[in-house]
Amino acid sequence: MSWHATALTLFPEMFPGSLGQSLAGRALREGLWRLDARQIRDFALDKHRTVDDTPCGGGAGMVLRPDVVDAACAAALEEGDRPLVYLTPRGKLLDQALVRDLVAGPGVILVCGRYEGLDQRVIEARGMREVSIGDYVLSGGEPAALVLLDACVRLLPGVMGGADSAAEESFSAGAPMLEYPQYTRPVEWQGRAVPEVLLSGHHAAVARWRREMAERATRERRPDLWARQGDTAKASAG
Ligand code: ADE
Repeated sequence: MSWHATALTLFPEMFPGSLGQSLAGRALREGLWRLDARQIRDFALDKHRTVDDTPCGGGAGMVLRPDVVDAACAAALEEGDRPLVYLTPRGKLLDQALVRDLVAGPGVILVCGRYEGLDQRVIEARGMREVSIGDYVLSGGEPAALVLLDACVRLLPGVMGGADSAAEESFSAGAPMLEYPQYTRPVEWQGRAVPEVLLSGHHAAVARWRREMAERATRERRPDLWARQGDTAKASAG
């Protein structure tokens, strides 16, 4: 049985069967994982197929009903017991540790909200993990679910080259470090040269330069990540 993702959504067409030309799409067609998009509306309990209602206490927008979402969750769990992840800007920020955690399991059930979100009670009753992909607000959880899936699928066995998997391991060890910059041919372009050390053939010097550039980028752009680096990494930064 391959890694199995189910998306619960009001817009299943946002999860096209093939996922197109993406790496995740190719892996899907190769059977390295499975993706089902399920219409939440199919689990509505009345003849009008109602999925939402106005927020208790007033305010703008609509809230997805707990009974309807619960029925959709139950059906997805029937197809394999997997962690439930609710995509919401209120969630814990998605990071590589959570991605690795999910990839190590049998798959995931992704609950995508629209409107003002889900009734809190179904989040609690189903023990959903609330996950955000960043400090901005999307119009729905679907793009966030696709982001999470892409991050997971690239780590599945057989999806990417072994060399990349090894790199992934070193990235994952402690706090992440930003990548060093990359260059390719031509060696001079619009008056800009490729850094000389990268053409020197001196492997140790290349490795040292790349580590320095990675450290500089992390320090300057992501002081939050830099603060979490081990003392050895920081000490060698100079
Ligand atoms: N739904 C709306 N905004 C979101 C975000 N930033 N992350 C995850 N799900 C969302």
